[in-house]
Amino acid sequence: MNGTTEETTTAELTPGVRIPLIGLGTWPLTGEQAAAAVSQAIASGYRHIDTAENYANEAAVGEGIRRSGIERGQLFLATKFNTGWHSRTGVRHAFDEAVRRLGTDYLDLFLVHWPNPAQGRFVEACHGLQELVDEGSLRAWGVSNFKPAHLRLVQDAGLDVPLNQVHIDPEHGQPGQLAYHREHGILTAAYSPLGRNGSFLGHPAVIGPATDLGKTPAQIVLRWHVQHGRVAIPKSANRQRQCENLDVFGFALTQAQLDAIDALETGAPPRLDSDTYFH
Ligand code: A2P
Repeated sequence: MNGTTEETTTAELTPGVRIPLIGLGTWPLTGEQAAAAVSQAIASGYRHIDTAENYANEAAVGEGIRRSGIERGQLFLATKFNTGWHSRTGVRHAFDEAVRRLGTDYLDLFLVHWPNPAQGRFVEACHGLQELVDEGSLRAWGVSNFKPAHLRLVQDAGLDVPLNQVHIDPEHGQPGQLAYHREHGILTAAYSPLGRNGSFLGHPAVIGPATDLGKTPAQIVLRWHVQHGRVAIPKSANRQRQCENLDVFGFALTQAQLDAIDALETGAPPRLDSDTYFH
């Protein structure tokens, strides 16, 4: 950033499709709480909302979007489907139901929520998603919670995976997973980017730059994600937190500050193991 070039707040997902680097996570908000959180976030400047069939809040998210008055084309809307739909026709049905619940007629991003390798049909699901993109009802597809072994099977079937949404925070850095994404040009979206009760928000590696730069610890951690080229989808229904989480552009961490946050990595696996956990 040199003051003359405006910093980008989006990343290229596929040719011609850009995804805002900060999105609003919506789990576990439901009902009126979810609708209010979404409309408030959009009013505060959010242009990327993330939901899922399994959050049971797509209708409420749709209500929040309508209430905000935003034009659909100004918003990047992402949702995910459960493993019961892992077939080409199943994905089509999942898509029809998701857009109906959300009250829209297209999606910006549709994700396989969990691979469920024991069921063994996630490659079929990815083929189904690619067909929806080719037909124009879906702008881009991706996966979530896929380990490198799962991604490899999809790639071996001749498909390019644009994005994988995984749990990344400073203590769950998943270096092997991220290296695989880098090597294969897969964009990383971090869920739980601020962790769940992570003590790292109070660590000197976070507090130090927060004090120096006049930012909150959450802003430092989200800035760390963004400078590593990741999308991050922090969830909060609180207006002030939503605003601060979006306001992570226009300042930069030094390489040494990034390295110090990288060093908080514990080697812990993500909270849920996608070889066995699914819905
Ligand atoms: P809250 O929802 O009370 O604002 P997730 O893993 O779903 O992204 O969870 C995000 C967690 O981080 C929630 O516990 C949320 O709390 C908390 N959080 C979100 N934004 C901030 C913030 N700016 N500062 C501190 N905690 C935050």
